[in-house]
Amino acid sequence: MSDESDLQATVEALVRKGKGILAADESNPTIAKRFAAIGVESTEENRRAYRQLLLATSGLGEFLSGVIFFEETLSQRADDGTPLPQLAARQGIVPGIKVDAGKIPLADAPGDEITQGLDGLAKRLAAYKPLGARFAKWRAVYNVSATLPSRMAIEANAEALASYAAICQEQGVVPIVEPEVLMDGDHTIDRCAEVTEAVLHEVFHALHRHRVVLEHTLLKPSMVVPGKAHAKRAKSGEVAAWTLRILKRTVPPAVPGIFFLSGGQTPAEATANLDAMNRLGAQPWQLSFSYGRALQDPAMKAWKGQAVNARATQNALLKRAKLNGAAREGKYDAALEDSIA
Ligand code: 13P
Repeated sequence: MSDESDLQATVEALVRKGKGILAADESNPTIAKRFAAIGVESTEENRRAYRQLLLATSGLGEFLSGVIFFEETLSQRADDGTPLPQLAARQGIVPGIKVDAGKIPLADAPGDEITQGLDGLAKRLAAYKPLGARFAKWRAVYNVSATLPSRMAIEANAEALASYAAICQEQGVVPIVEPEVLMDGDHTIDRCAEVTEAVLHEVFHALHRHRVVLEHTLLKPSMVVPGKAHAKRAKSGEVAAWTLRILKRTVPPAVPGIFFLSGGQTPAEATANLDAMNRLGAQPWQLSFSYGRALQDPAMKAWKGQAVNARATQNALLKRAKLNGAAREGKYDAALEDSIA
């Protein structure tokens, strides 16, 4: 198969009805924070055991089309020797890989950040492919205030995202482009909308400059929501209307799928918001999920680092995957939050 048809096949596998992506690609410092919250030490073995448990969940492939790994996981194995990417692929879940190297302060731009990791990226992708990775992820973050992000941060991160996406496509790997407008702060939903519009506009301008094929690109944006510290929480209908308004202004219909991040929303909020969008009727792109915390938090709390909690961990993950699979089709029923185990 040529790279073109490889890319097309990967996109089609990811954009399946009723399915979304599990973001299990927490970097070592991030997973250490999440484990600390449940009193578990972040050792390589604990990370392996936890992620094996998630991927071995029976029936998960019914609601997940893809999983994003951190580099370490790509070469880890299950207890029976099966490589973890294969454990996913066995359930029809396409393995992907986080390829950015995290964020650092942007020079001469106090409060802004830039994501690194372009050096040697083509070579790394060539090494990840034989391990099973068919798509990749790069996350840019934007802090919000009355003055942030600066024009420079918006342009610099768009340039990096577009360079990354072009390199991925050249290597036959589908790029997920993730510009995350952070929820931290007390800004209004209007301010989040304004920033998100500027960010997405610049990202697509840069993708065009870098000749990235939009048909073989997936977008992973944040939803348009007020800051976490803002006095008023937005209802799903408002989040859905604002988010779709901004996406319609900025994302060409050639993009096949938009997979939202959860970004600090509660699991139930993230599900309800996605559902509300999908209830507004057909859109130019498929609207799905690529959640980290909103899929994993209840599972991690059930696990507590103990093998005896395996069943409860997997049930908690399967429940969130199932409810988000329904939200992906606008068929989520909040009453199911309490009625399924
Ligand atoms: P959250 O859904 O927890 O925001 O994680 C998604 C992700 O991949 C962040 O890069």
